[in-house]
Amino acid sequence: MAPIISIRNLTKIYSNGFQALKGIDLDVEKGEILALLGPNGAGKTTMISIVCGIANPSGGTVLVGGHDVVKDFRATRSMIGLVPQELTTDQFETVWNTVSFSRGLHGKKANPAHIEKVLRDLSLWDKKDNTLRQLSGGMKRRVLIAKALSHEPEILFLDEPTAGVDVALRKDMWHVVEKLREAGVTIILTTHYIEEAEEIADRVGVINGGELLLVEDKTALMAKLGRKQLILELTEPLEELPASFAGNGLALTAGGNRLTYEFDAENDQESIAALLTRLAEHNIHFKDLSTQQSSLEDIFVALVGGAK
Ligand SMILES: Nc1ncnc2c1ncn2[C@@H]1O[C@H](COP(=O)(O)OP(=O)(O)O)[C@@H](O)[C@H]1O
Ligand SMILES: [Mg+2]
Repeated sequence: MAPIISIRNLTKIYSNGFQALKGIDLDVEKGEILALLGPNGAGKTTMISIVCGIANPSGGTVLVGGHDVVKDFRATRSMIGLVPQELTTDQFETVWNTVSFSRGLHGKKANPAHIEKVLRDLSLWDKKDNTLRQLSGGMKRRVLIAKALSHEPEILFLDEPTAGVDVALRKDMWHVVEKLREAGVTIILTTHYIEEAEEIADRVGVINGGELLLVEDKTALMAKLGRKQLILELTEPLEELPASFAGNGLALTAGGNRLTYEFDAENDQESIAALLTRLAEHNIHFKDLSTQQSSLEDIFVALVGGAK
């Protein structure tokens, strides 16, 4: 099946000469959840804005559902729901009107039952007659999500959806995302909170300095780049490691009481067994053993050099 979004050699140079995107290639499959990770200024919002037809590309092409986002703006835009990073909505409208109006803007016939469902899913139903300026920041963000879902989009973009959001909204949001996924909606979210990607994404893309460093299945990525650490609490503190153990990812810490061993998540069992045997041969004994696996966060920090 053709990807629902197809981005080829996409570049963006802003009018001040700054190049925010440097040749992005990306295909997004229908129904997947893709998380785009990247530090502030990486180009995430720029890329989303171009796919949504809000900003013009400087070079390259973007197809949504087979339509070019520049030449066929109406067709592509109506397929997409965007929850923007910035809160910008008419403060004097009611929640109900804002969300209903948004559906109309995308050329869809009124459907009060759908609007009601969206508002209920986002716990906004009892606020439907409030004006936006009467709402808290978190509530306003819910309205942005409701607006993005008002026209039943096939693709939903969430740009930093949980930046500065409370736990309740976060939970509601992931619940809504889960339901949308079940309904076959394609979801692309950007975040610099890694746990989010770790929790819900099928694939993860890492973007930095206007370049897509990688896009990969989340599980495969963790297996490939993930490091594991074996931690042994020694029975007796060691002054130093026997010379034959030097290198090889072994380190003595906690005043000689702890031995840590770094290894690849892929090829582990054998080397650990060998290590334990060798330790026993050197009369080094341990009273406790545990392992730690590096998280997506560690991988991300390693890739983008700690910039967050
Ligand atoms: N309108 C603009 N004019 C000039 N530079 C911009 C403009 N918008 C964004 N940028 C710059 O482009 C880079 C990428 O921004 P953005 O896409 O917002 O990144 P992200 O969403 O990943 O934080 C940043 O360095 C930002 O300062
Ligand atoms: Mg952004």
